[in-house]
Amino acid sequence: MTTEPSNQGGNSPNLNEIHDTLIEIAYKAGDIINGAIPTTEAPGSKKNSADLVTEYDRAVEEMVSKALKERYPSYQFHGEESYDPSRPLTDDPTFVIDPIDGTINFVHAFPHACISLGFTINRKPVVGVIYNPSSRTLYSAIRGQGAYLNRTKRLPLKGTEIEPLCGLQNALISIEWGSDRKGRNWETKVRTFEKLGKDKESGGAMVRSMRSLGSAALNLCGVAEGTLDLYWEGGCYAWDVCAGWVILTEAGGVIVDGNPGGWEPSVDGRTYLAVRASPGNAGQKEIIEEFWGNIQGRLEY
Ligand code: IPD
Repeated sequence: MTTEPSNQGGNSPNLNEIHDTLIEIAYKAGDIINGAIPTTEAPGSKKNSADLVTEYDRAVEEMVSKALKERYPSYQFHGEESYDPSRPLTDDPTFVIDPIDGTINFVHAFPHACISLGFTINRKPVVGVIYNPSSRTLYSAIRGQGAYLNRTKRLPLKGTEIEPLCGLQNALISIEWGSDRKGRNWETKVRTFEKLGKDKESGGAMVRSMRSLGSAALNLCGVAEGTLDLYWEGGCYAWDVCAGWVILTEAGGVIVDGNPGGWEPSVDGRTYLAVRASPGNAGQKEIIEEFWGNIQGRLEY
C-alpha cells in the first residue's frame, strides 16, 4: 500500500478508499488462512473447548492491525484477539475486525470461515468486507452504495424478484449454539430452538428448518444474499457482526435486537436478529414480531 490515504484524521473518512483497502487486506488474510495447516489437536482455548483461538487468528490480526495502523494511524482499532474490555467501542472512526470468524470451522477444516473487516463511525457500521478464502467468496458494502458479492453481483441475489417474507413457517433460520453451555442464556437458546422447530399443533412455530453454520459474519452474508431468511444470536461481539451489518442493511435487510422490543440495536449490543430483504419490506416487521413472540426467556450479556 503506497498511496497516501485521503481525509486521514479529518471528519469525513473516505469510505470508498477504506473499502478498497479492506478488500486488499482481506485477500492477504485469505492467503494466510489458505496456507495454514489447521489442526484439532490442542488449539488454544479462551474460555472453554468451544471458544478457540489459533496462531493463525493471531497472525492475521497482527497483519491487519499493522497494515491499518500504518495507513490510518489516527483511526481506532477494535480486534477480537487484541480486545481490551476496558477500551469499549467509541464514536471515533474505528476498524472492527475479526481475523477468523468461524474459528471452530477453521480448526476442523470445515470450509466455512472468513475474515470480517468492518469500519464504524459514531458506532454505526459504514463499511464491511467479508471474505471466505475456502470458497473465494467476497462480500462487501459501503453505506448508501449497495452490497455486492465478488464486487459485481448486487445483493440480494434475486434482486427485485426476491419473494416476500411469509412468516416463520416458511423461513429458513440460522441459529448458533455459542460457547456458553450453561445458565440462563443457554436455557433461553435451547428452549427457543425447540419452540421454533416444534409442530404448530404442539405449540411450536414449525419453522421450515434451522441451520447452525458456525460463522456469525457469514450468517449475515447469507441473510444479505437471501439464501437465509433470518439469523438469531446472543453472545457474539461487535467484530462478529460489524462488517455483515453493513452488507445486510445495504442489501435491504434489517437488524433488530435479539430480545423482544429492541428496534434500534447497537453494534456492540451482543444480541441480534437479522432479517432478509423483502419487496416493499413486506412481512419484515411481522416476522420479527412473530420471532420475538417465540423467544423463551431473555438473553442477558
Ligand atoms: C464465533 C462465530 C460463531 C458464533 C460465536 C462467535 P469466532 O466467532 O461467529 O458462529 O456463534 O458467537 O464468537 O470465535 O469463530 O471468531
